[in-house]
Amino acid sequence: MFRYFTAGESHGKGLTVIVEGLPAGIPVSENYILNDMGRRQQGYGRGPRQQIEQDRAEILSGVRHGYTLGSPIGMWIENRDFANWTEAMAIDPVGEDAKIRRVTRLRPGHADFPGIMKYGHHDVRNILERASARETAARVAAGALARRFLEEFGISIHSHVVSIGDVKANVPDKIDWNGVESSPVRCADKQAEADMIKHIDKARDTGNTAGGVFEVVAENVPVGLGSHIHWDRKLDGLIGQAMMSINAVKGVEIGHGFANTEKPGSEVHDIIEPWSGDRRPFHHITNKAGGIEGGMSNGEPVVARVALKPISTLSKPLPSVDLATGKRVKAHYERSDICQVPPACVIGESTMALVLVGVFLEKFGGDHLQETLYNFNGFLDGLKQFKPLEETPSSDERPPDDAV
Ligand SMILES: Cc1cc2nc3c(=O)[nH]c(=O)nc-3n(C[C@H](O)[C@H](O)[C@H](O)COP(=O)(O)O)c2cc1C
Repeated sequence: MFRYFTAGESHGKGLTVIVEGLPAGIPVSENYILNDMGRRQQGYGRGPRQQIEQDRAEILSGVRHGYTLGSPIGMWIENRDFANWTEAMAIDPVGEDAKIRRVTRLRPGHADFPGIMKYGHHDVRNILERASARETAARVAAGALARRFLEEFGISIHSHVVSIGDVKANVPDKIDWNGVESSPVRCADKQAEADMIKHIDKARDTGNTAGGVFEVVAENVPVGLGSHIHWDRKLDGLIGQAMMSINAVKGVEIGHGFANTEKPGSEVHDIIEPWSGDRRPFHHITNKAGGIEGGMSNGEPVVARVALKPISTLSKPLPSVDLATGKRVKAHYERSDICQVPPACVIGESTMALVLVGVFLEKFGGDHLQETLYNFNGFLDGLKQFKPLEETPSSDERPPDDAV
């Protein structure tokens, strides 16, 4: 079973990640992980925290001489900012004079209010430190290992920003992924890129924040990952849950999910035709379904669009209440991002990679990468040898009452 855990607070000593269930024999390195860690820290609209941190995941276990061992992979990401928070985030009790940076003014849109009610704390910091999106640095480290594994099977994962505020990109049919990587807002449309930057600047200048939508595309995913059998094995369900768990995500769409609702079925479903290409005997001529039918990958790119609300912490804070006095106050303000959509793209890629590894190993298994490759190639060979069963009547020829 493939799974991962993270631990750590935003201003604590650092983040711990344990990734379990990857086969032995996968080539991995800290430098490989570093690339995604750096990508998560970039993006126009990020706050000053990113200038303090230069995230690096140190591998502590589960890897020897550059290859995974099949044992749990432990990683550690230091929070450089901890140097400024040693008293506030001390593990041991601190004296009365210590600078503990207690927070009592609840911030709308954060975990503050329900967390305080649920856990019975009197300091919001006991909630916000873990609720912070700092945790996603750990997910990106785990996701980099997942991505490295998927690469062995030709699967690649990209992302781009579709909208920020009311600025929408004209998404080209073929996206130049290198161009996206060099765009400060990870946008494939240059005009929209300029307008998105202006939108973020305006939000900053007016004490506001901006949300948006990003898209993750997984290419070369083989047919048959996930299952139609049970609710918790459906690939679209797994992607939806995992994406929704990213901080500030409030919507997930597979393929043209929402736009499809306005069209008749004949304009929505992707026509299937015989195909002489790779990995499957048939393909779809369009991909409005986003690569998933009936909870299973259908061999087309798996596409998820993900909606993020605007950042909750505002430099012009909203009205709220003070936990200590029960009185009306302005919400607490703490150094913050203005727009998190570009970095969230990278978290979305990691999330997609982690979900795909889970369903991939469920189908192909293997304790060593070679065994997984053997199983995978055997499945593809079977698909290559697919022959129509001419003696079986096609579904069209069956009597109508055979249909469900
Ligand atoms: C990459 C990223 C960075 C974020 N940075 C901030 C931030 O600087 N300030 C903030 O208020 N919220 C930030 N958020 C969002 C909050 O973590 C999130 O809104 C909050 O924990 C409440 O959870 P919810 O929005 O999922 O309900 C960020 C989210 C992501 C994905």
